[in-house]
Amino acid sequence: MSYKSFPKVELHLHLEGGAPPAFIAGLAREKHIDIAKIFDERGNYIYRDFDHFLKVYEAACTTLQGPEDFRRLVLAVLEESAENGVVYSETFLSPEFCGGGDVAAWSDYLAAITDAADEAQRKMDITLKGIITCIRHFGPEQAKTAARCAAETKGDFITGFGMAGAELVGRPGDYAYSFDMAREAGLRITCHAGEWGGPEMVADTIRDIRPERIGHGINAYKDLALVDRIAEQGIVLEVCPGSNVFLNAVKSWKDHPISPLMERGVKVTVSTDDPPFFRTTMTKEFDMLHRTFDWDDGVFRTLNKTALDAAFCDAATKKRIAELLEAA
Ligand code: HPA
Ligand code: ZN
Repeated sequence: MSYKSFPKVELHLHLEGGAPPAFIAGLAREKHIDIAKIFDERGNYIYRDFDHFLKVYEAACTTLQGPEDFRRLVLAVLEESAENGVVYSETFLSPEFCGGGDVAAWSDYLAAITDAADEAQRKMDITLKGIITCIRHFGPEQAKTAARCAAETKGDFITGFGMAGAELVGRPGDYAYSFDMAREAGLRITCHAGEWGGPEMVADTIRDIRPERIGHGINAYKDLALVDRIAEQGIVLEVCPGSNVFLNAVKSWKDHPISPLMERGVKVTVSTDDPPFFRTTMTKEFDMLHRTFDWDDGVFRTLNKTALDAAFCDAATKKRIAELLEAA
């Protein structure tokens, strides 16, 4: 059995990380950029570990050189998502990869991205919202540049601010200024933590960044008092089990803490992170959760509802998506 046609809500997807490798290889050919070493002989992305993954990711991003490339990227990524039953998606976008953090340049990229999102909505009935993310290993000063871009372009499409990148670089408090700027501009807040860092990283992130949602957050399970605090505060975890298993952040599907976290009352959701990099899709995530934990349609409906409740979008969009989910 497969959950391919089951409707899905996805909250944690890096836009460039959703790029099919053939799409990036095609751009590289068009622009005569030699990035052959990031692909294996079958054309899949290849890397050794998480830090190397980030380098390969950045190498793939060098092929994305203008708004038109991002327009095509959004359509390629959403085609894959829609194919896997996703009806609502939020994607991380980094001005660093779109004009180097300059607000005017970023606005041109954003126009192309929203154009593509509108086209996908019309053609594939999938809704996309954008979360601007600063990149942790680029440092706190560049994070402020990303936050400025976010504050200047907040609107119907850009609804959130977050942080991705190498989690073990710096401390959450180093980035608090950027998150405060984004929050004051009215953006909703999420932040990667507890994928590679331990429970203290999750606790510091909650204290210093005050996110409504945490990207991954899985290592919180090593401190049950913290798990209970996350549950009480209603902080939502954007869990990406296939990513965690592929990158060895968790030993195996059956060892994944998503099930115990949910049983202890934490609001969990399921996403792919960087699907082609981690050889996953939303269908595969649902299928593997079904196979591993015997989760059924009822659990998946709960996951969708939790995700939609926690989505960074307006009430009218939520209502429309809820109706889509209920009709299925
Ligand atoms: N984790 C952290 N940072 C990232 C990722 C990820 O999976 N993808 C792109 N940037
Ligand atoms: Zn991520």
